[in-house]
Amino acid sequence: MNILLLGSGGREHALAWKLAQSPRCDALWAAPGNPGIAQVATCIALDATDHAAVLAFCEAHVIGLVVIGPEAPLVDGLSDSLRGEGFAVFGPSKAAAQLEGSKGFTKDLCARAGIPTGGYERVTDEAAAMAALAKFGAPVVIKADGLAAGKGVTVAMTMAEAEDAVRDIFAGRFGSAGAEAVIEEFLEGEEASFFALTDGSTILPFASAQDHKRVGDGDTGPNTGGMGAYSPARVLTPELEALAMTRIIAPTVRTLANEGMPYSGVLFLGIMLTAKGPELIEYNCRFGDPECQVMLMRLESDLVELLHACAENRLAAIEPPRFSPDAALTVVMAAEGYPGTPAKGGAIRGISEAEANGARVFHAGTALVDGELVASGGRVLNVTARAKTVTQAQDIAYAAVDALDFPTGFCRRDIGWREVARERTDA
Ligand code: AMP
Ligand code: GLY
Repeated sequence: MNILLLGSGGREHALAWKLAQSPRCDALWAAPGNPGIAQVATCIALDATDHAAVLAFCEAHVIGLVVIGPEAPLVDGLSDSLRGEGFAVFGPSKAAAQLEGSKGFTKDLCARAGIPTGGYERVTDEAAAMAALAKFGAPVVIKADGLAAGKGVTVAMTMAEAEDAVRDIFAGRFGSAGAEAVIEEFLEGEEASFFALTDGSTILPFASAQDHKRVGDGDTGPNTGGMGAYSPARVLTPELEALAMTRIIAPTVRTLANEGMPYSGVLFLGIMLTAKGPELIEYNCRFGDPECQVMLMRLESDLVELLHACAENRLAAIEPPRFSPDAALTVVMAAEGYPGTPAKGGAIRGISEAEANGARVFHAGTALVDGELVASGGRVLNVTARAKTVTQAQDIAYAAVDALDFPTGFCRRDIGWREVARERTDA
């Protein structure tokens, strides 16, 4: 089968690496891809916002499966355009992708379906937002309704911070994504991510992971897209996972299907493990980045079969995904300045040295300039390892980080710390 993968980050490098291993994959194209992806796929310039151009490419290259990596093309309805012409697509419709595209949509869905999540109020102007803040009191969470590249959420510990966040949103900081906002109850607990594949009726649990959103060691500093992750997240025990399936995922899938917008693709849940049980923090409509990298390092099943069966509504007929009991961990190397304005163009050397001890380096924001690999984004590399325990995977990943020669890069030094502490207690 000929496959087209859309995206250019570390998530897409991991997807490309795994898709290319499948005996079902005859040819793999990636648009736009990156230099890491180019090792396993043919990278092409194709604008995902130009649906006609993507369709023309799929027709010309007899594409049997389109895998959409990032959220923007999903929220923009690219899968509807492709499905409308008969192509198999991994990724939800525009209507179902509102789960990520509108925080208010998801909160209202939770209310209709009785899904456990924090109390909330949707607001469309500053005065209403301030009134809602007064009701909730600090700490409180303020979210721009639409896609804001991971920057639209403020967890405010004080009322002054909360009021600043509201003013920011309604002063237009997030453009149309901030035309509306959600004021939300602060949930307390440990966070975990969980992923499930669904074709709108069958749901197959995929895997769990834990991300590290803050830029600094000890979870300090501003929020990022994710500075590192590990999988599985043992804090999400089989009992808690079962609760998340019955109380959160199943009613979501059922309600969306009943309301005429069946969800097809991967559901990515941010879950807070509160004293009352798992509560939904948010939904995303795609794989997590860098959670995808660690889950795929553990995946033993054929990824093409899984994603193709999902796209063709055949999940009931296939084997559920199998994972190695090993742990995987990834450390994000970012460019100086991230999550603000990252330094571009810094030279990257030593990838083969870094991979010599069994680690795998996924490219997230790299470019080739005059034959030299350089940084071209905020998150640049994902240094990834698999081992019996998170502690061992962490050792391998940081040894690989130390073997890299990337002077304008930096990373957190404590990825996996919660699980490493638990492993130490267990030992
Ligand atoms: P989101 O973009 O919705 O994932 O939010 C970013 C981060 O903000 C989450 O990963 C949580 O750490 C935090 N967060 C979001 N909503 C809440 C909430 N209701 N209570 C506590 N923390 C939250
Ligand atoms: N790592 C969080 C995300 O992909 O949204």
